Amino acid sequence: MRISIFGSGYVGLVTGACLAEVGNHVICVDVDTNKVALLNQGHVPIHEPGLDTLISNNMAEGRLKFTTDAINAIDFGEIIFIAVGTPPDEDGSADLRYVLAVAKSIGQNLTDYKVIIDKSTVPVGTADKVRAMVQAELDKRGVQQRFDVISNPEFLKEGAAIGDFMRPDRIIIGTDNPDVEELMQELYAPFNRNHDRLLIMDIRSAELTKYAANAMLATKISFMNEMANLAEKVGADIEQVRLGIGSDPRIGFGFIYAGCGYGGSCFPKDVKALEKTFREFGMQAQILTAVSNVNAQQQQVMFRKIHSHFKGDLRGKRFALWGLAFKPNTDDMREAPSRPLMEALWQAGASVQAYDPKAMTETQRIYGDRPDLTFCDNPEAALQDADALLVVTEWQVFRSPDFKLIESKLKQPVIFDGRNLYNHNRLKKAGFKYYAIGRGE
Ligand code: UGA
Repeated sequence: MRISIFGSGYVGLVTGACLAEVGNHVICVDVDTNKVALLNQGHVPIHEPGLDTLISNNMAEGRLKFTTDAINAIDFGEIIFIAVGTPPDEDGSADLRYVLAVAKSIGQNLTDYKVIIDKSTVPVGTADKVRAMVQAELDKRGVQQRFDVISNPEFLKEGAAIGDFMRPDRIIIGTDNPDVEELMQELYAPFNRNHDRLLIMDIRSAELTKYAANAMLATKISFMNEMANLAEKVGADIEQVRLGIGSDPRIGFGFIYAGCGYGGSCFPKDVKALEKTFREFGMQAQILTAVSNVNAQQQQVMFRKIHSHFKGDLRGKRFALWGLAFKPNTDDMREAPSRPLMEALWQAGASVQAYDPKAMTETQRIYGDRPDLTFCDNPEAALQDADALLVVTEWQVFRSPDFKLIESKLKQPVIFDGRNLYNHNRLKKAGFKYYAIGRGE
């Protein structure tokens, strides 16, 4: 098939590369000339395992192209994906400016039948707005042209996006046209093997499914974080509780890890946008408001523990910080728990020696050069003469460290672990003061 994808961000690139990999011809369009130039030179602007190889192979095979030429792309694709960003507005709702700009451009240039797919995470009702925008532009031109707008939300996890696209749990298609169903069966056939993963539903249900999925996952995490805080008070261990409840298949082991809060480009934004949708309909999102609030507090929990350990005086203290990215296998710093933590430490007069396998360049871009932030070449270097080690992201490389070495490099053997990576008893025996989440001291 011929496919055009608007937006060469994380979702657009993964979608484009994976669809090209199974034999489609794909054009990815972006308004950012610099980004398109880089992509055409083989530089992938984000870190996602496997993505650069997939992109370079498919470019070499001539199945994947990058351009700023929207008009040509609209003409080229039988299917047009909208995968542009939907950043949060000041009030938390998703800003549809970019989505509707693409719809406008499609309406201005449409000459034959196309299926337009909303891939970006967009509030319920957006497909209708996209349809209205395309139609308005066609009307202005006095052109009568059939087209369909459908919802096909993505469920890609950063760091595992290629696998998620190639072997999805489910493929959600929201459409009101049975003819489109067939086309979607065909488009997704390469990824829909062994058993049928394609769920066809009405457009609004598909749009809401995306938000409900992320909101449910965020709820699981905030619930566990709230339990973790109670576990500390009552002398229980949240890791034991996690195993105890996860073994009930109705609860499951996924997404019940307590920690220093969820981050990333999706959960915080999507939960807030969904809260906004509730408000728009005169309702109050009671659970979701609590989920957001618990998460905001949880992102402060490590700082509170550090503050209290050092008796409220952090001036001149130096901290080794392992992990900056909001989760492993990405360089994404959006809403990363490391950010409020570092900012609170700086505010209190402390400095940070950070190491992250991928996210140091991005962190430097955000914070610039400052005397209270040093980037280190490896995890060990970050420890040198630090007052404590803070573990914020559970990169594999932090899971089995040499505790003797840690002890020898730190000024005092103190670890604050925001991801519950280590064996509590072992560290205690080794003479460490070990603060984890929901596990007592
Ligand atoms: C999330 C969803 O998992 C994807 O299914 C969805 O497609 C994507 O959002 C999206 O909407 O685009 P992602 O943001 O990449 O994916 O990251 P997750 O792996 O879901 O992690 C989110 C945050 O939750 C991370 O900060 C992680 O550390 C935290 N987390 C996760 C916990 O604190 N505890 C857990 O048990 C699991």
